[in-house]
Amino acid sequence: MSATISSDPPLALVVAMGRNRVIGGKGALPWRLSSDLKRFKAITMGKPLLMGRKTFASIGRPLPGRETVVLTRDRGFSHPGVYVAYDLAGALALARARALAMGASEIIVAGGGDLYAQTIGLAGRLDVTLVDLAPAGDAFFPEIDPLLWEETDREDHPAGPGDDAPFSVRAYRRRTDPAPR
Ligand SMILES: NC(=O)c1ccc[n+]([C@@H]2O[C@H](COP(=O)([O-])OP(=O)(O)OC[C@H]3O[C@@H](n4cnc5c(N)ncnc54)[C@H](OP(=O)(O)O)[C@@H]3O)[C@@H](O)[C@H]2O)c1
Repeated sequence: MSATISSDPPLALVVAMGRNRVIGGKGALPWRLSSDLKRFKAITMGKPLLMGRKTFASIGRPLPGRETVVLTRDRGFSHPGVYVAYDLAGALALARARALAMGASEIIVAGGGDLYAQTIGLAGRLDVTLVDLAPAGDAFFPEIDPLLWEETDREDHPAGPGDDAPFSVRAYRRRTDPAPR
C-alpha cells in the first residue's frame, strides 16, 4: 500500500458494519437498514464515490447525483456513466479530478472491504454506522485503531421501519497528536 499518495480533497470512508466488523456476504449487504441507505444518500450527494468492482456489481448502476469511480484490474470492464481506474493511484487521481470538477469537499470511499483496507491509511475521516448485529459474512471493515482515530461524535438510533436492528452512527477523525494512554 502506498501511504504517500497525496489526497486533496481528503478521503472519507463511509461504511455500515456489524459488531464483528462484517460489512457484506456473498456480494450483498447482510441486513436491511433503510434508515442507513437514506443517510448514505444524504452524506454522499454531490461527491465522487470510489468503490471496488465487486461493490459496484452489487449496486449495479451509478448512483444519481454522485460520480462513480470503479477500481478493477479488468481492462475490459466498462459501464455507462462510470469512471474506471486500474490501480489505486489512478483511482485517487480520477476521483480527485472529479471532486474538483464537482466542487466537492471530499472523496467518499464506498467500499467494499478490499477498498477500505487499501484506503484507511489515507483517509482523514471515517463515518461508521455500527449495526447491532453480528452476521456471517466474507467482507470486513479494518480495525479502527484508537491510537490513530479519535471518535468525535456518536448518535444511537432505534430500529426504524425497514431496519433489521438498532444502530449507532459514529464519526472518527484522524488524530494529529498521539492518543493519550
Ligand atoms: N456495509 C457497507 O457499508 C458496505 C459498503 C460497500 C460494500 N459492501 C459489501 O462489501 C462486499 C464487497 O467487498 P469486497 O472486499 O469483496 O470487494 P470490493 O472492495 O468491493 O471490490 C474488490 C475488487 O476491486 C478491484 N480492486 C481492488 N483493489 C484494486 C486495486 N488496487 N487495483 C485494481 N483493482 C482493484 C478488484 O476488481 P476485479 O476483481 O474486477 O479486478 C477487486 O476484486 C459486498 O458484500 C458488498 O455488499 C458493504
